[in-house]
Amino acid sequence: MCGIVGYVGEQNSAPILIDGLKRLEYRGYDSAGIGIICDGKIELVKEKGKVSVLEEKINGNDINGTTGIGHTRWATHGVPNQINAHPHFSSDNELMLVHNGIIENYKELKEFLLRKNYSFKSDTDTEVLVNLIHYFYSENLSLFEATRQALLKVNGTYGIAVLSRNNKERIVIAKNGSPLVIGLGKGENFIASDVNALISHTKNVIYLEDGEIGEITKDSYYIKSLNNDSIEKEVNKIEMDLDEITKSGYQHFMLKEIMDQPNSLNDTIRGRTILEEGISKLGGLQGFEERILQSKRIIISACGTSWHAALVGEYLLEKCTGIPVEVEYASEFRYRNPIISSEDTIIFISQSGETADTLAALKEAKRKGALVLGIVNVVGSSIARASDAGVYIHAGPEIGVASTKAFTSQIAVLILIALLLGRRKNLSIVDGKEIIQSLNSISDLVQEVLEQNSVIEKIAEKFVNAKNFLYLGRGIHFPVALEGALKLKEISYIHAEGYPAAEMKHGPIALIDENMPTVFIAPKDAIYEKVISNIEEVKARNGEVIAIIDKDDKYIENLVDHVIRIPRTNELLMPILTVIPLQLLAYHIAVKKGLNVDQPRNLAKSVTVE
Ligand code: M6R
Repeated sequence: MCGIVGYVGEQNSAPILIDGLKRLEYRGYDSAGIGIICDGKIELVKEKGKVSVLEEKINGNDINGTTGIGHTRWATHGVPNQINAHPHFSSDNELMLVHNGIIENYKELKEFLLRKNYSFKSDTDTEVLVNLIHYFYSENLSLFEATRQALLKVNGTYGIAVLSRNNKERIVIAKNGSPLVIGLGKGENFIASDVNALISHTKNVIYLEDGEIGEITKDSYYIKSLNNDSIEKEVNKIEMDLDEITKSGYQHFMLKEIMDQPNSLNDTIRGRTILEEGISKLGGLQGFEERILQSKRIIISACGTSWHAALVGEYLLEKCTGIPVEVEYASEFRYRNPIISSEDTIIFISQSGETADTLAALKEAKRKGALVLGIVNVVGSSIARASDAGVYIHAGPEIGVASTKAFTSQIAVLILIALLLGRRKNLSIVDGKEIIQSLNSISDLVQEVLEQNSVIEKIAEKFVNAKNFLYLGRGIHFPVALEGALKLKEISYIHAEGYPAAEMKHGPIALIDENMPTVFIAPKDAIYEKVISNIEEVKARNGEVIAIIDKDDKYIENLVDHVIRIPRTNELLMPILTVIPLQLLAYHIAVKKGLNVDQPRNLAKSVTVE
C-alpha cells in the first residue's frame, strides 16, 4: 500500500521519480507527490489524484535537482487530499519525509511535539514522524542519527525515506513492516518500495529487513540496525524484464494478465513434475516433506483472492493426503489466540508477499512453533523471506489490482504440493500420473477458455446495469463462486455474493427475482445433478442464469439464459478453468461501465496495513 521512490545521482531526478511512481501506482492512487532538493531548499509538488495529475503539474514547473523522493498514497490517516498527500515537511521545511505504514503512537508523539512548539498542517501520522526526526536533528545530530533516535520512539510500521535540504546528496531510509529496497546503479542509487520502480534502471538490489536503517548517496550506501550495529547485506539480482510490467498493447493490465494465464501457468508448473513417478519436485520444500507429513493438521491462511485459493487448497490437500486441513483468514488469525503447536504446518498464500495481515499471522504462527510455508509470487518479498520454506508461484508481475493470474498459479502450486505429499500418502501412481498429464495440458485448455472472450463480452453487455449478482458453486467450485463475486465487486462496484449452491435454499433464495442474475458454476462432476436442481429452483423464480458448463453439455443449455462453455480436465484442476470466464465477465462489465479496472476505487494492490 502506497509507493515510495527515491533517487540520488547526477541526473535530474523529477522524470525518474515520476516514472517510478507510475510503476508503483498500483499500490495506491489517492494522491501523489515528489520533493527534490534544489538550491539549498526542498521543492515540493503534490496533488490529490493519480500520478498523471502530478506529472501535469510538474511539467509547468522548473524543478531541477539530482536528489529527490516521491510517494503515491493509499490513505490511512487523513482523507485523500492535497494537504495529506506525501511528501511531508517538518514545520520549518528543513526535512522532508515519505512514509508507508502506520505510526500507532502518533497521537502521544504529536502532543509531545506540540508542547515543543511544532505545528502541523495535515492530519497524518507521517507529519508527526518528520517533526520528531526534526526534533532530534535540531540537537545537532546527523540526519541518519536523528532518524534512528526518532524511530526508537515509534510504535508501528514504516518504510520511510528522509531528505534534508542541507544534505544535498543523501537519503536516509528505514524499514519496519513496509517493504523497502535499494537499487544500485553506477554513480547513482535508487530506493523504492518494490522492484517494479527500479528495473528500468538497475537489476542489482538490496532488500532491507525490519529494524534496519540506512543511508544512500550517489556512490555509497550503508545499513545498520536500529541499535546502531553495522549490517552486511547481500546484493540480489532481479530476474524480471521491463515488458513484464507494461501493458504490451492490451487496454488494461487486468486483461493482459487474464490472457497471460496459459504462459503464467506454464511458468508455474515447468520443471516441477516427474511423470514416470507421478510426483512433483519442489526445491523450496526439499528437506521439509517429512515434517509436513507428520503434521497433525495443515492450516492455510491468506486474504482476499489468496484466501479463495486456500479454500481450493483445502479440498486438494485433504483429498490427496488425508491430512486434516483448515483455512483461516489471516486478518482474523492472530486476534483469536489460535491453538497452534509445533505439530502444525501453516501455509501462507500471498501474491504480493507483503500483505500486512498475512505477515502478522505468519509471525504469530512462527512464534507458536509451527512449520511455516509460503506460497508467494513476488520473489524476495517479506512473506517469502519470513517463511521456513515455500514455493514461488512464478506467475510474473501482477499489476492489475484485481488478482487473476496469481489465483490460477496459486491453485497450480497447491496441486503440486498435494501431489508431492499425496504420493507419500494414499495417492496412487496412476492418479499422480493423471494429474501431471492434466497439468501438462492445462495451458492449452486455458487458451480454449480464453477463446470464449467475445461470447463473454456479449453476455456482459446485458448486465451493465445490474445492481446485484449471486454466484453459486458446489464442492471445489464454491471458492470459485466466491472469487467470481469478489472480482465483480472489486472492479464493477456491483454488489455480489458467492454461496455454496445448496445453501441458496437456506436464505439467499429470498433474493431471487428477475433482477437478480445468478452465475452457476456447473461442470459435469459428482454433484452435477444437484446443481441442476439448484438451477431449476432459480429459474422457477424468474431468475436470469448464466452457467459455466462443459462444452458438450446440452441439458443445462436448454435450462438457462446464457452459457459459457469450457473443456474438461481432471476434477482437481477444474477451478483453473471455471474461474477464467468469471474473471472475463467481471472485466467486461466493468469496462462497459466505463470504470478504471486496473485501479478500482478505494483499493490498492498490496495491503501493507492491518
Ligand atoms: O498479495 P496478497 O495475495 O496477499 O493479497 C491479498 C488480497 O489483498 C488480494 O487478493 C485482494 O483481495 C485482491 N485485490 C483480489 O483481487
